[in-house]
Amino acid sequence: MAQAVQLRIGHRRISILFIGLGVFALFTLFFALPSAIPAGPSLSKSLADHKFSLPKYTDKLNPFRPASHKPPEQKNSKYGGSSWYSNWNWRSPFSSSTTMDESRSLLPPLEDRTPIYCYYDTTIERDAATKEADSALLLTWRRAWWAQGFEPIILSAGEAMNNPLYHEIQGAEMNPILKKDIMKWLAWDNMGGGLLADYKLLPMGSRQDHLLSFLRRGEFPELTRWEDLGSGLFAGPQPKIAKVMTEALQNRQKKSAKDLISAVSSDSFRVDPSHEALAYYDRKTIEKNYPKIAEGNSANRAQSLQSLNILINYHLHNTWQDLFSKGIAVLKPFPTHTTTLIQPAVELAKRLASCHDSPIPASCPPNLPKCTPCVSSYPMKISTPARYRNKTEIFTIGTVPHPYTLKLLDSFRSDIDVAYIRRETQRDYWLYRVFQEVLGTGITASGRVVAFKDTVAAEYATSRSLWLTDDEDTPLQDADWWFGFAVPMDVADDGKSETPVPGPERRPKPIHDPADGPIPPDEELAREPGLLAKAREVGKSKLESDVRIREAVEAWNLADTEAWRFARAFLARSRVERQQWEKEESKYAGGAGRDTNDERQSGRTRWKDDEK
Ligand SMILES: *[C@@H]1O[C@H](CO)[C@@H](O)[C@H](O)[C@H]1NC(C)=O
Repeated sequence: MAQAVQLRIGHRRISILFIGLGVFALFTLFFALPSAIPAGPSLSKSLADHKFSLPKYTDKLNPFRPASHKPPEQKNSKYGGSSWYSNWNWRSPFSSSTTMDESRSLLPPLEDRTPIYCYYDTTIERDAATKEADSALLLTWRRAWWAQGFEPIILSAGEAMNNPLYHEIQGAEMNPILKKDIMKWLAWDNMGGGLLADYKLLPMGSRQDHLLSFLRRGEFPELTRWEDLGSGLFAGPQPKIAKVMTEALQNRQKKSAKDLISAVSSDSFRVDPSHEALAYYDRKTIEKNYPKIAEGNSANRAQSLQSLNILINYHLHNTWQDLFSKGIAVLKPFPTHTTTLIQPAVELAKRLASCHDSPIPASCPPNLPKCTPCVSSYPMKISTPARYRNKTEIFTIGTVPHPYTLKLLDSFRSDIDVAYIRRETQRDYWLYRVFQEVLGTGITASGRVVAFKDTVAAEYATSRSLWLTDDEDTPLQDADWWFGFAVPMDVADDGKSETPVPGPERRPKPIHDPADGPIPPDEELAREPGLLAKAREVGKSKLESDVRIREAVEAWNLADTEAWRFARAFLARSRVERQQWEKEESKYAGGAGRDTNDERQSGRTRWKDDEK
C-alpha cells in the first residue's frame, strides 16, 4: 500500500516538495538566527525583560565581540566601595558594557566648575571673635557657591604679591584706601580673571536662573559689573583687568577715588542691570533692610557678623524652601515594609522642612523682597509617595535599596534563597514601581534604567532630587554642601551645632496620604531593623553562600542593581570631588576659611601656569 502511494506521487511532485522544504529552511534560517545569537550586554528589549542572563555570560557567548580592554582607571574614581568611570556615553543602560567591570559604574563627565574668587585681606588686624565670625561667613559663602556649581576660591595677599604689578602699585603714591582696593584686583588678575565676588554676595535663587547659568558657563569677554551691586561682583578676562589697573595707576592723582571703579573711566565696565538671583549684604543694605543687626560701633562688629551669618543661612534655606512650593517627596515605593529603610531620608526631609532660626524672623533676602518666610506653624510639606513625580515644585529624596535588601524587606523573611528569588519575585520591581506613573508600564527595564540615570544625574535633576542608597556608611553628613546652607541639625546629634535648631515639637512631620499605601502595624515595624541589619551583614559578608545569594539577586535584577550602583557611585563621586577641592584649598592661607593666623603667602598662580 505504501509503495503504491509513493509511486503515485511521482517524480515531479517529489522535486516540488524538496524545493518547498528548501525555501522553508532558508526562511527559518534568516528569521530565526538573529534572535538566537545573544545580543551584546546592551540588552535588547526581550532579553532584558524576560531572560535570566548576566552580561559577562553573554560576552562569552558572543563570538563576534572583539576582546577589549577595560577603560583606564581615572584619577580619584573610587570611594567607599564604589568605583566609576566618567564618560560621555553614560546614558547607556548597562555600565559594564563600557567599563568591562560589573562593579564599576559609568557616570556623566564631571562638569568643570567655574572658579569664583573672593579676596579676603588677611593682613588686617582683627580680634579673635571677628576672625571667627568672618571665617563662618566665608564658609557660608563657599558652601552657597559650591552648591550652585561653582568652585569658590578665597584669595589673599599672597596672590596679589605674586603679580608683577604689585611692587609698582606699592611704591606709587596714591590714596591708601584705593591702594587696598587694588590688592584684590592684583590677586584676581594673577589668577587669570573670571569672577570676583565680595564674600557678602551670595547666589540666592534657582540653579536654573539665567544669570547663574551664564556665570556658570565661565565665558566673560567683557569686563562687567552689576548695577547697584557696587564692588559685589565683577566678571572679566585677564587682559582687561590688567588694563584698568594700569589706568588706575595713571590716574593716581585723582584723590577722591577710593576704589578702582571710581578711579577709571566709566566706560571701562559694561554694567549689567539684571541680577535677580544675587543677594548682596553690604553695609548699606544691612542698615536699610536689617537695621537690627547693623554694626553700630566696632565693639559689636563680631556679633553683628555672627548675626549676619545666621541671617544669610536663614535666607538661603528659605529661598530653597520657596522654590519647592509643593514640598518634599520622600519616595516609598514599597510602603508595607520599608519605613525603617527610608528613615534617614525622612530625617533629612524633616531638617530641610523646618524653619531656620533667624535674628530677624520673617525677613526676606535683599533680592527677593516678596519671599514667603518660613513659619513653623505652617511648615513645608513632606509626603511619602510611592511613585516618582517629575515636577519642578517638588524636591524628591529617593532611597535606592540593593535588590537583596529590597527582597528581604518585601518578602519580610530573612531566609530567602535562590529558588525563592527566581520563582516568587518579580524582576527589577523597584524601578518599575518608581517610574510607573512617569513612564507607564509599557517600557523595558533598560529604558527605565536610562530614565533613572537621567533623574539622578542630568543637568536639570541634581538641584531637585537627591538619591541615597541603603548603605549604612553613607548617611548624608555633608548635606550642607548639597543644599548650600547650614541644614538645621538635631542638637542631640552634636552638642555644639553651629545652627540654631527648632525643638522637636516644632519639627514638621511627614503627612501620610492613605493613597500612598498602608502604615505597617507596630509589631511588623519592630522587625524591620533586624531585616535591614541582616541585609547589610550579607552585603559585607565574604561567606560563599552569602555571596552566591547576593549575586543571584543581582543577576535576577540587572536593572535595579545598575540603578543602585549608579546612585551610590554618583553620590560617592560628588563627595570625592568636594574632598579633593577642600584638600587642595587648605594648602592656601584662608582657603579653609579658618586659619587666618597662619598666613602662608603661598601665592598660587592658577591659569597662567596651565596655559604655558
Ligand atoms: C523630567 O522633566 C524634565 C524637564 O523638567 C525632562 O527633561 C525629563 O526628561 C523628565 N524626566 C522624565 C523621566 O520624564
